[in-house]
Amino acid sequence: MRRYFIETWGCQMNVHDSERLEGQLLSLGLGPSPSADEADLVLLNTCSVREKAAQKVMTRIGELGRLPDPPLVGVCGCVGEQEGEALLARSGAVGFVLGPAQVSRLGEVVLAASAGQRLVLTGFEAPPGRHAGPVVRRRSSRAMVTVIEGCAQHCTYCVVPRTRGPEVSRPATEILGEVRTLVEAGVREIELLGQTINAYQCPEGQSNFAELLDDVATIPGLDRLRFVTSHPRFFDDALIETMARHPNVSRYLHLPVQAGSDRILRRMARRYTRAQYLDLIGRIRSTIPDVNLSTDVIVGFPGESEADFEETLDLLARVRFGQVFAFAFSPRPRTPASRLPEQVPEAESRDRLHRLFQLTDSISAELNSALVGRVLPVLIDGTSRRSRSDWQGRSEDNRVVNFPRGERQEVGDIVRVLITRAGAHSLVGEALPSAPDPPGAGARP
Ligand code: SAM
Ligand code: SF4
Ligand code: F3S
Repeated sequence: MRRYFIETWGCQMNVHDSERLEGQLLSLGLGPSPSADEADLVLLNTCSVREKAAQKVMTRIGELGRLPDPPLVGVCGCVGEQEGEALLARSGAVGFVLGPAQVSRLGEVVLAASAGQRLVLTGFEAPPGRHAGPVVRRRSSRAMVTVIEGCAQHCTYCVVPRTRGPEVSRPATEILGEVRTLVEAGVREIELLGQTINAYQCPEGQSNFAELLDDVATIPGLDRLRFVTSHPRFFDDALIETMARHPNVSRYLHLPVQAGSDRILRRMARRYTRAQYLDLIGRIRSTIPDVNLSTDVIVGFPGESEADFEETLDLLARVRFGQVFAFAFSPRPRTPASRLPEQVPEAESRDRLHRLFQLTDSISAELNSALVGRVLPVLIDGTSRRSRSDWQGRSEDNRVVNFPRGERQEVGDIVRVLITRAGAHSLVGEALPSAPDPPGAGARP
């Protein structure tokens, strides 16, 4: 086995797991392949959050198995955890299955596969040194760091507690050590990861997420700090104040609401009410007026009436999020919501989704238009997807900004960009001559 290819679906946690999988493959002496068709080993790092994502994986396994010279296929991620052994039976192309909590054991399954053995490593018993292995980061300027594994919430629609296991917080000393090492190596932006990150409780002390964020934000040289995903239930005033106090903590907050109707929130077991959510948004905005908020919404949850849906639209119109990620409800295996009566017909969910995006796109476009004429510090992430002669970067509040490349600019630079145009999902601008770093930018070595 010489060359590998990794395909990644799903959330940031999977993206980060793929970085760790790749690190181990390089240590094993394999090299990257330009495509799956030319690879000896293809890892499918899969997502099971909605039926469509899980289905795509099955299609992909079939396609890879039918190649003239089929590669060895390793199914990693949440579909791997969910389906386990069944994946081996599904296709002879599948050489092993590796659940998300077992990512650090890739070497074992690859070596066994080379000897003709098909292993299934799933379950949540964490192997020692889980986070210690090598990591390959595509962008030298930005890095993801795990804060919490798994989830303890059991929202009635969601597979994550079954695919990622129970909630486990990492010791603060380990997290701080990893961030320090990354910043010393030149990383400018850190993204802290967890499904309910603000439920963090250090297992070796008393510190909560606000205290951890405070400690990470004060690491010298860290320019930008973001975190996903927060659960509204655990978002307290101490965390709002900590965000406000540190200029290097991004003015961006992803706070999934899921629904605007109390009846549906109750059925989802989200454990907050519409009024509590709106009150929280009010407190956040009064302390951090320039915050850019984003959210997740599920439409067509079982029992969602037109009136419930209109309450969701009303909430979205009140809060005016910078970005809304909305999905039609998808019944998932072994979740309570999949067995609820009053499933909403697919056509109805699709229609609601369409109406929702009409509203939220117009709000996002309005909010972005208000930035035309402003100068924003933009961290360059890489080449723009639209044109090779443009950069793509992110503002301090996590908006995508495209602008023509200039001289002496490179990935990881923070440049001042005059915003000239705005759409619902991104901004366009022109870089201005460099000026002193904005407040909050740490001193660079
Ligand atoms: N932990 C986060 C939270 O509590 O909001 C998000 C977790 S989930 C990986 C990302 C999003 O997928 C959720 O916020 C939800 O909107 C959506 N989602 C989860 N299960 C779903 C389902 N069965 N059908 C449709 N969307 C779903
Ligand atoms: Fe899923 Fe709810 Fe956990 Fe988020 S908080 S991962 S939606 S169970
Ligand atoms: Fe998908 Fe698993 Fe993430 S189900 S959204 S990859 S936690």
